[in-house]
Amino acid sequence: MKKSRIAGIGYYVPERVVTNKELGKLMDTSDDWVQERTGIKERRYGVKHEETTTTMGAKAATIALERAGVDKNDVDFIIFATLSPDYYFPGCGVLLQREMGMTQKAAGALDIRNQCSGFIYALSVGDQFIKTGMYKNILVVGSEVQSMGLDFSTRGRNVSVIFGDGAGAVLLQPSEKEEYGIIATKLHADGTHAELLAFINPGCHGGYHLGKEQFNYSDAEYGEIFINQNMLDLAQLYPNMDGPAVFKMAVQKFPEVIHEILADTGYKASEIDMLIPHQANLRISQFVQKIMGLPDEKVWNNIQRYGNTTAASVPIALCEAWEAGKIKDGDLVCLAAFGSGFTWGSALIRWG
Ligand code: ACO
Repeated sequence: MKKSRIAGIGYYVPERVVTNKELGKLMDTSDDWVQERTGIKERRYGVKHEETTTTMGAKAATIALERAGVDKNDVDFIIFATLSPDYYFPGCGVLLQREMGMTQKAAGALDIRNQCSGFIYALSVGDQFIKTGMYKNILVVGSEVQSMGLDFSTRGRNVSVIFGDGAGAVLLQPSEKEEYGIIATKLHADGTHAELLAFINPGCHGGYHLGKEQFNYSDAEYGEIFINQNMLDLAQLYPNMDGPAVFKMAVQKFPEVIHEILADTGYKASEIDMLIPHQANLRISQFVQKIMGLPDEKVWNNIQRYGNTTAASVPIALCEAWEAGKIKDGDLVCLAAFGSGFTWGSALIRWG
């Protein structure tokens, strides 16, 4: 059974930079507050009517394919992770296929809806397909346009200042050398507190999980459940987050899932050459770094410049670290993520 390796990697972030100060014109927040709590200085927002989760994913994927030296028509399978799909359905996998002009082969396309851990889940799924020999070229994409679905009033400030847009992609192939490639992945979830970080409406829940009274459904026999005027009036069409609860779980689960993958594969934390944590909050990453006893040069952080780009954050950070020459062939690279669901996971890779 061959390991899978990352044969090509790319990322794309939109040009438009949005500073904390700019957000302060729309809501009651400040550069000091955002930097102190999250480390974020600025984020990127896609261009309305032009850039979508799909188009940005396609840009990152095109770079990954070029670097791998693989023609788009040789891609056997697409795995697309996002929480901000262009459409409720169909998923971004098929839209990316069309966007990149790669429908010729009718390769399968799968969407992964695991928010911040989406890329690690996607990588793990791709890894299994490579290992079983089912596919030879798998495009794994994480992309988000969050800026078009946020509440830019003071009401939504705890969420809106955190998130940004961007995309990252890798091409997975079977590794010809036994020593290189994905060593292991770990995936976890606990749905007990699913609503603590969630984008609930529009949806088909009908109030089941939270009490239908909260949504002021009308008495109409049909319809008016998925989306209705009340949801707009009551600002229920935005993501919501219990920040402190998420923070508490994140600082527990990040180290746990890194320790788990190290223990299962027989490595020590000191052997990690580069840790790429999902860019949730700089304070969370710093806490994880401390617990793992890693020096600054072994942890990549870019949340200061991009905010939290959920499913895109790990591949963007991985690509940046690689482009900066901080990841070399033979290096031990650890990816870790935690997010909505809650879901969390890790991947250990011998780069090359
Ligand atoms: N600007 C100014 N004040 C704000 C802002 C803002 N943007 N957001 C919230 N506040 C206020 C609150 O209203 C509250 O005011 P009050 O005391 O008058 O009620 C006060 O700041 C403190 O609010 P908390 O939510 O308790 O602030 P906290 O110190 O926990 O920081 C934060 C909030 C940054 C969201 C933090 O909880 C956090 O980072 N949590 C983790 C969130 C996270 O990482 N999410 C992403 C991970 S999962 C994923 O990526 C999908």
